[in-house]
Amino acid sequence: MSAPSQSRTLAPDWLVEPEDANALAPLVWPEAATRDDEGVLVLGGVRTTELRDQFGTPLWVLDEDEVRARARRTLAAFRAAAAAHGVNARVYYAGKAFLSTEVVRWVTEEGLAIDVATGGELAVALAAGADPSRIGVHGNNKSVRELEAAVDAGVGSIVIDSLIEIERLAAIVDRRGAHQSVLLRVNSGVHAETHDFLATAHEDQKFGFTLTDAPAAAARIRELPGLTLVGLHCHIGSQIFGTAGFEESAARVVELHALLRADGELPVLNLGGGFGIAYTSADDPTPIEDLAAGIADAVARECEVRGIPMPNLAFEPGRAIVGPAGVTLYEVGTTKPVAIGDGAQRLYVSVDGGMSDNARPALYGAAYSARLASRTSDAGPALVRVVGKHCESGDIVVDAEYLPGDVTPGDLLAVPATGAYCFSLASNYNYVPRPPVVALRGGEARVIVRGETIDDLLSRDAGLTAPEEGTA
Ligand SMILES: Cc1ncc(COP(=O)(O)O)c(C=O)c1O
Repeated sequence: MSAPSQSRTLAPDWLVEPEDANALAPLVWPEAATRDDEGVLVLGGVRTTELRDQFGTPLWVLDEDEVRARARRTLAAFRAAAAAHGVNARVYYAGKAFLSTEVVRWVTEEGLAIDVATGGELAVALAAGADPSRIGVHGNNKSVRELEAAVDAGVGSIVIDSLIEIERLAAIVDRRGAHQSVLLRVNSGVHAETHDFLATAHEDQKFGFTLTDAPAAAARIRELPGLTLVGLHCHIGSQIFGTAGFEESAARVVELHALLRADGELPVLNLGGGFGIAYTSADDPTPIEDLAAGIADAVARECEVRGIPMPNLAFEPGRAIVGPAGVTLYEVGTTKPVAIGDGAQRLYVSVDGGMSDNARPALYGAAYSARLASRTSDAGPALVRVVGKHCESGDIVVDAEYLPGDVTPGDLLAVPATGAYCFSLASNYNYVPRPPVVALRGGEARVIVRGETIDDLLSRDAGLTAPEEGTA
């Protein structure tokens, strides 16, 4: 099938027709991704056709060496940036990006602490053997049970998100005769929107305290003997390129930090995560070393202006650690040219997964890229839209991509940069079982999260269980 002549006009501005629609763009793919002599995509030393034969499709693939290398590089970057100003940096892995016990072990072995956002995530981190004193707990609506579990486990810090939570946590700590270190989440009014950021006096969102309300919350925490306020926390958003947003936010948060320091020590400043990665060849993420140095320098400048010592820094990257290490494999089921008016047509390529294994395009229009994995092709590039098998027209996997024009049913398709927020946001929409997660290391593949079966899904249906006597 040749490329429709109108395809170029349907392509978004950022998408450039490639000379070779088989090429693997650097940064978008895991470092070890390559093609063998037969053109088959090889990930972590394993042919993707073998992965398909062994585990089926759809399949989430995670390159363990890539995750570990990214964890090491990120930690080194933030430690070096902080050390340049005579302070320490702790890097928490934001578990919401992708959490399983194996991943917790990989990143903790590489020296990262763990950030969890719910009781469920806390349970996974603890089950993996993470040191509780190196776990930070988030959430804008932590239940009493979740707070109790965190205190009982002895977590290092809880990030306070509301006045109600202060009293709730203080009561729990009191009942146990325990003690808990806490940070105060503040909302700097700087909100990162993908490649750009907005700075407003008041950001209209659910997380944290405004800069105006934070001092009263800090004062209340300091009145409570069971709680120790160790610092401020601020996360300005996700998929951020460049340091401008962080610098603006740091200026505002350090001003508050200086104010609160007047009434007691605040040894930590946690500036969250949000460091961007490449999803397509148009993305050019700032190297983590540059981001780390830019942010640490900004904090140092703001502290110097106010004549206060610089606090130790903490960060919480999730996407930047696991995102580029993940690739999703799908099988093409149908292709369909669709006339969309004015003589234009779009080639739809349907795969055997979709919004149940990657909700991000449907949730916030996230862009992805794709390549044929089972072969290369000399056919000219065709602009395609890769879609899933779900009953939603918004069930898009890759909105716009150039693939070889002879893409056909049975082809194996690989979508890179799916390590973050795909597994963790997955659903069973349309009763589609969630795929397994396979980790690659040293040329070996192993399942780290088992795939679901239809029986797993049916086993939750109480309508299939005969009611116990006397309960009908
Ligand atoms: C408080 C907090 N920290 C860290 C993160 C991780 O962000 P990212 O995965 O973009 O680094 C998030 C993401 O939503 C967050 O809300």
